[in-house]
Amino acid sequence: MTNLANGNTALAARDLRHVWHPCTQMHDHDPTGSGSVPMLPIVRGDGAWLVDANGKRYLDGISSWWTNLFGHANPRIAAALAEQARTLEHVIFAGFTHEPAIALAEELTRITPPGLDRVFYADNGSAAIEVALKMSFHYWLNQGHGEKTRFIALTGSYHGETLGALSVSDVALYRKTYAPLLLTPFLAPSADTWQAEPGESPEQVAMRALAALRVLLEQHAHETCAVIVEPLVQCAGGMRMYHPAYLSGLRALCDEFAVHFIADEIAVGFGRTGTLFACEQAPAASGRGGGVSPDFMCLSKGLTGGFLPLSAVLTSEAIYQAFYAEYAAGKAFLHSHSYTGNPLACRVALETLAIFRDEPVLERNRHLAVHLGRRLEALRDHPHVADVRQTGMIAAVELVADKASRRPFPAEQRRGLRVYLHGLEHGVLLRPLGDVIYFMPPYVVSAAEIDLLVDTAIAGIERAVSH
Ligand SMILES: Cc1ncc(COP(=O)(O)O)c(C=O)c1O
Repeated sequence: MTNLANGNTALAARDLRHVWHPCTQMHDHDPTGSGSVPMLPIVRGDGAWLVDANGKRYLDGISSWWTNLFGHANPRIAAALAEQARTLEHVIFAGFTHEPAIALAEELTRITPPGLDRVFYADNGSAAIEVALKMSFHYWLNQGHGEKTRFIALTGSYHGETLGALSVSDVALYRKTYAPLLLTPFLAPSADTWQAEPGESPEQVAMRALAALRVLLEQHAHETCAVIVEPLVQCAGGMRMYHPAYLSGLRALCDEFAVHFIADEIAVGFGRTGTLFACEQAPAASGRGGGVSPDFMCLSKGLTGGFLPLSAVLTSEAIYQAFYAEYAAGKAFLHSHSYTGNPLACRVALETLAIFRDEPVLERNRHLAVHLGRRLEALRDHPHVADVRQTGMIAAVELVADKASRRPFPAEQRRGLRVYLHGLEHGVLLRPLGDVIYFMPPYVVSAAEIDLLVDTAIAGIERAVSH
């Protein structure tokens, strides 16, 4: 039993002896180093809160890497998981199937945009991207178009860190070191509103980005399998947001040039942007209803309410049929993970989706998002804030050294990290992306908790920019 007062120290010391953490310079955690970043042992979760081994509570403002929707240790999801664990924990998913995977596929095909009728499971976001890239390439190969081997990605995009997913990502921090190992995509400019020219509206930025994409497709569509995008918000790239008209235009261009549209809704799916899926917000193109159906939709993170790793790639019956043939034709899609379709994860995902059916989640989020936006208004005039932006339950504040020129702070000053440390001191988990302070709380957060998040962030920003 750990002594409560020393619980953190004892567990952190054991951790640092053997564990290697993701996305971390472990030296930051050297307790003897100057400016040391704490390694925080969490022993319990409770709604939007995490509790450390000393009993201190932290409001989870980032949904634990954008996964948690309905609170930590959510009793309803936990009960479903326990029941499933007592019944069937896992079974090979080739040649065998089970009710949770079947029911989940039925439900996912029902709630996603029309035409996505086939579900392929994997076990994390990056793996879903690998599946979508391979499936797109293999579709074209099966159709007699083996010359299509390239992908188009957007500037500032992030799709994960396995080699294929990293290949179609454009965040230097993650990509630069490994570039010699990666495929080289064609990069099309993002419709990121931050890149607007003076006087240009978000929609005009989208049109400009689409025009550039058209030029790229005119040159390279014959060798391109797919365009991959994060619909509406480029999350890891700094919570950069764009106008939904880009998605309608992208759908039209992909149709015109015969390339696939891969929608990576791993971070933005399941209500984050205000609709169940971000693709639903694409305005009607002429002759169609609103919303777009991509050729592939990748889902993960919120899919299990933040309980277990699981991902799904949805695609159309037409794409599925291009793989469906006598065994000897050699057309089968070849991709597998040991834990594909894990029953525990599928059961937990079903319970998560049941909460969406039983409770007015999106309606409640709309109110919370309005409250969050209102509270952040105060930062617009701050001399070190260049932008405050929001899409549904994602909001971000961009810190700069100079507001007029948008000159960033020198990266080595790690101003965002100062906000992180301030947050931890005051019982709030904010984890800035560089100098972008963002808010992506679980949907069970209250208005008062949003106040705490924002007040702590504002105080942290004041401290971070002060010297
Ligand atoms: C848009 C997007 N795609 C893919 C991924 C990769 O998911 P995972 O971390 O589960 O591999 C992420 C993770 O943050 C993401 O934000």
